[in-house]
Amino acid sequence: MSKYYLTTAIDYVNGRPHIGHAYEKIMADVISRHYKQRNMDVYFLTGTDEHGIKIQKTAEKSQKLPIEICDMNANEFKKAWKLLDIDYDKLIRTTDAEHTQIVQKIFKKLMDNGDIYKHSYTGLYCSGCESFLNPRDLTEDGLCPDHMVKPEEIQEENYFFKLSKYKDRIVEHIKTHPEFIQPAFRANEVLNQLENIEDISVSRSKESVSWGIDVPGDDSQIIYVWIDALSNYITALGYDPDSPSDLFKKNWPADVQIIGKDIMKFHAIYWSAILMALGLELPKTILAHGWITIDQAKMSKSIGNVIAPKDVIEEFELQYPDAFRYFMMVTAPSGKDGNYSDLDFKERVNADLANNIGNLLNRTLNMLVKYFDGEIKFVPKSSDIANEALKTVESVKDKFDRFELAEAAQDIVNFANVVNKYVNDTAPWALAKDGKLDECSEVLYNVLESMRFIGILLLPYCPNISRDILSQLSFSESGYDSLNWGLIPVGRLTEKEKIKPVFLRVDSEFAGDKKKS
Ligand code: MSP
Repeated sequence: MSKYYLTTAIDYVNGRPHIGHAYEKIMADVISRHYKQRNMDVYFLTGTDEHGIKIQKTAEKSQKLPIEICDMNANEFKKAWKLLDIDYDKLIRTTDAEHTQIVQKIFKKLMDNGDIYKHSYTGLYCSGCESFLNPRDLTEDGLCPDHMVKPEEIQEENYFFKLSKYKDRIVEHIKTHPEFIQPAFRANEVLNQLENIEDISVSRSKESVSWGIDVPGDDSQIIYVWIDALSNYITALGYDPDSPSDLFKKNWPADVQIIGKDIMKFHAIYWSAILMALGLELPKTILAHGWITIDQAKMSKSIGNVIAPKDVIEEFELQYPDAFRYFMMVTAPSGKDGNYSDLDFKERVNADLANNIGNLLNRTLNMLVKYFDGEIKFVPKSSDIANEALKTVESVKDKFDRFELAEAAQDIVNFANVVNKYVNDTAPWALAKDGKLDECSEVLYNVLESMRFIGILLLPYCPNISRDILSQLSFSESGYDSLNWGLIPVGRLTEKEKIKPVFLRVDSEFAGDKKKS
């Protein structure tokens, strides 16, 4: 079994989880489940980013200790991921004792190597970015382009990291490893940013920020949040500059690090330089996703349009998170921004999950009961539908290998469309009526076997619906090994009482008490 290590960005805990955070974690979970189905030994890390001025200010405002805010909100993130069936292996908190100790060791190692030096500095700090900004990156009005606030001018003596020393190696790495930055169109942005790269401040004086990890040997300073935060990807595995753990040796370098497009610079440049300074390999791929808007507007506390994942689950009284997971994955083409609206959600999941996939299974099982007492009479020879199914498997695999999750889901739906058309064209009800029972049995078999493929392919997006589809087909294997045509055996498959819809239209009269339409 080959190992597969994937990580997500770690979320700031100055607020609660919203569907933008959820989008990324669902994406990671979908990738993780997919590679597990292909027999990979996956390790999936997520976490929360708990130090820095943002959290300190939130705590001050609510007259709480920073750690109280962290505990409270980290718990909200955990609850949200549970609700969404995000099946991670570890959720790291940057306030974990193991993490803070190793971050200090990492900092010390960088100092000992001469990669960190002390320097007096005046700079423009944006607390939204938790980063100093370059004056040339500001808007015409002198605002941070991401947060539209004026950065604060800060004069301090800080520790600096020799980022510029690694510039040429990073440029070289990007140019010689086309898979390193995904989608590839983001590589140019990073190369442009690298042109003007300077050494970065990696500490803050405690007078300005006190909520952070102490610089080793200097208790007047704390370690800059990005060094602290980025290190999570290795501290979580038990990396230690002196004696790295077996888990680390097994899993590093990461196979994919999933982040939002806004934090590409920190990952492709800062993180690469830190890894180079530590003598560690770079991750194989940094995958930047787009942003999720709500009704085409940026989500923001001030606009008041922030939606939590649980809002959607509750609003539509969803029994499982599957429909929400599915929608989030199909709403944005790979690497691009996507939008959430209640209406789009309803239309999309009703069309794809209820009408296209759910009804197809339901209709076919009912015909099997009606015409054959729920029995598979024989396994027919291969057919065009079988070829189409096998082609879909290859195409879904290729798309996953390129992290094109919306596009892979579309392949599954397209296949379901083909099967629906096949049912309509062959009209098994008419075949039964005309006494052409062998032909009818063949059509039903092809459809049910297709449904088994669809159930397995859909699993990463909709694990509960997938389980229900496979259980209706009395089939328990869900790995890619069982994507061979013709595995539903001859014999009794189902009976009337066992047939249940796998996904009800949202807003339908069955979907929930309040939703009678
Ligand atoms: N703490 C840093 C990341 C450190 S990683 C070593 C951070 N936190 S965040 O809470 O602001 O964002 C966490 C992740 O959620 C980021 O990848 C960010 O891009 C993503 N998103 C935040 N809002 C988002 C949307 N509206 N849509 C999609 N993703 C979004 O940055």
